[in-house]
Amino acid sequence: MELLRETRIFWRVNSSFKLTADQIRRFRDEGYITLDRISSDEEVARLREIFDRLFATAAGHDKGSHFDLAGTDEEGRPPVLPQIVNPVEFAPELADTEFRATALEIARQLLGPEAEPWFEHAILKPPGYGAPTPWHQDEAHRGDPGVEYEQLSIWMPLQEATLENGCMEFIPKSHRGQVLDHRSLRDDRRVMALECAGDFDRTKSVPCPLPPGGATVHHWRTLHHAGANTSNIPRRAYILAFRGKVTPDPTFEGYHWNIEKSTAAHGRRAAWENRGGVAGRAARGAKGLLSRVRGKVSRMLRP
Ligand code: NI
Repeated sequence: MELLRETRIFWRVNSSFKLTADQIRRFRDEGYITLDRISSDEEVARLREIFDRLFATAAGHDKGSHFDLAGTDEEGRPPVLPQIVNPVEFAPELADTEFRATALEIARQLLGPEAEPWFEHAILKPPGYGAPTPWHQDEAHRGDPGVEYEQLSIWMPLQEATLENGCMEFIPKSHRGQVLDHRSLRDDRRVMALECAGDFDRTKSVPCPLPPGGATVHHWRTLHHAGANTSNIPRRAYILAFRGKVTPDPTFEGYHWNIEKSTAAHGRRAAWENRGGVAGRAARGAKGLLSRVRGKVSRMLRP
């Protein structure tokens, strides 16, 4: 996704986490694995507080980083599936976590030593009305023609993830096929989420309930979805995406379902960039400060 590629943050690389040979084999064969524990209870509790603050303030909304994944994101309507892309931009304390260090170690064991952090996102399914995440392959979201690589995502719930609140569900071995046809959810190009429009057997779906601080790891071609949140607690998930070695591929020109998209978040992002992005904000801040100082000085000079 275009919105995601600007965060360069410090990564702690001191994890000694080792996948077993069986876990590595299952990832290759099935396209996903589950892990019981990837972060401590204390860290998960801390992340939960940070997430609640970020979503309560819709951090990154003006920049298009906070949006409704499953809705049209109209002003004044509560999002049914709020997402924040690269939440670490808005909460720098997310940079230094055991989760991040362990996830990088896992990515290197599955994608090779060249694996690098690619982007991250925070997803909230509000209690009672949090929308389902449609069936999709993450690879269908890519918008970077001319190159080839593999990607995986490490998905960690910040409370229990259950069938009732929208745990992840996968179609085993679906990563061995092609990228199937996708379209914007409900065929509405104002909606960010994609849904798979191709043919696959939904009865093969395997739900993956998890304890808080557990994780699923899935290949970007593995078909997956998550149900609605019908429980009375928020379902929060923190997802780190990594990519492997990048090679040129002039034959890949991008997917039409992404090129056609026209979301409110893209509009907010474009407006933010027109205002000068980070540099513009700093300049406006400096200008504001200067005029406040001038006002103060002129008031002091007044007889
Ligand atoms: Ni996905």
